[in-house]
Amino acid sequence: MTLLVSTMVSMTAVAETGGIDSLRTIDLSVEPPAEAMKKVLESDTTFHRDFIEQPPLIPHDIRGYTVNKDVNTCLQCHSWKNASKWGATRISVTHFYDREGKQRADVAPNRYFCLQCHVPQADTAPLQKNNFEPVDSLK
Ligand code: HEC
Ligand code: HEC
Repeated sequence: MTLLVSTMVSMTAVAETGGIDSLRTIDLSVEPPAEAMKKVLESDTTFHRDFIEQPPLIPHDIRGYTVNKDVNTCLQCHSWKNASKWGATRISVTHFYDREGKQRADVAPNRYFCLQCHVPQADTAPLQKNNFEPVDSLK
């Protein structure tokens, strides 16, 4: 019986990672202790962008901001209608074009789930070393 259980556990470990190395340093079949919550970097200004197509990083906490099919809290401040009232950047014109390139009256479905592309930042060590350098004109 003991043997059967240990075989099942190791099979689960392989099934969960597919045998592929990942950035995780923990064994997925063991429940690790919860990590301390990281403090989100907040600023009244925006983060520098390192390349022109970069989705700008979010310079504020987003805890409690819901985005689902019924409500999009982000647009309550970032839509063209509301942005100036909040001093927030309006969503880009590109966010009105759907995947067929057709311009819509409101944010296109492929841009609705903001957090697919925009992320807040925490002051923490990078998971992966990155040597990316912006071109001189953007430094
Ligand atoms: C209560 C209003 C409010 C809400 C809700 C809000 N934001 Fe913001 N956001 C701001 C303001 C104001 C700024 C300008 C910088 C600052 O003051 O923090 C900003 C800045 C940003 C920027 C940086 C834009 C740039 O030009 O660099 C991004 C990206 C962003 N927010 C994304 C989001 C996303 C995604 C959500 C939803 C999860 C969201 N925001 C919800 C008010 C808001
Ligand atoms: C598929 C990826 C993607 C999604 C989803 C997305 N964005 Fe963006 N966003 C970008 C990129 C890339 C840029 C910068 C280039 C551009 O303007 O298109 C940008 C730019 C912005 C800017 C800066 C505009 C400016 O004029 O400087 C704001 C604000 C923003 N997005 C907010 C949002 C909000 C709010 C949502 C959700 C309703 C959202 N975005 C959804 C990729 C995305």
